[in-house]
Amino acid sequence: MLEKDIKKVLISQEEIVKRSAELGRQITQDYEGKQVLAVALLRGAVPFLAELIKHIDLDIQYDFMDVTSYSGTDSTGEIKILKDLDTPIRGLDVLLVEDIVDTGRTLQAVRKLLLDRGAASFRMVALLDKPERRAVDIQADYVGFTVPDEFVVGFGLDFNQHFRSLPYIGVLKDECYK
Ligand code: IMP
Ligand code: MG
Repeated sequence: MLEKDIKKVLISQEEIVKRSAELGRQITQDYEGKQVLAVALLRGAVPFLAELIKHIDLDIQYDFMDVTSYSGTDSTGEIKILKDLDTPIRGLDVLLVEDIVDTGRTLQAVRKLLLDRGAASFRMVALLDKPERRAVDIQADYVGFTVPDEFVVGFGLDFNQHFRSLPYIGVLKDECYK
């Protein structure tokens, strides 16, 4: 029972599906005629990728990357690649798929990395955006929901690797952090 640890539901599954459909329609329009490679960041972006691609009416490809940001880095944003893409991206229109943009450091670093590798274009879609926490000047091109500066779990987002499988976005009870 994951439910018992949840203080409140912030965004329901229905809202996520509805918003993903809206984003999918927009992305379909914006990328018509292009070869899109969706790059999902492990592991948090997996449920959102799975929902989103159902609503994109294009023959998009997808691949996965796992990165960690070195803490304490400045705005040049260095990251360590734990798992790299298997797809050569030169000339492809890359759509990065992320669970949440928090400080923005991950996005900034991955953006630089993939553009350096010769992606034709780079845009990013994030299920959630926490603008109050932003440390670098970057924003997603497509955002599902803006959330307050509160730690959230579910739909891929974890607390110490737990709660990713919750089908909605929620906030944990205070005792979970003890
Ligand atoms: P940043 O934008 O580089 O700070 O990194 C964003 C990453 O931090 C996300 O991909 C999540 O893995 C993690 N993260 C940030 N805020 C939350 C949250 O509220 N819950 C769970 N993970 C979070
Ligand atoms: Mg992440």
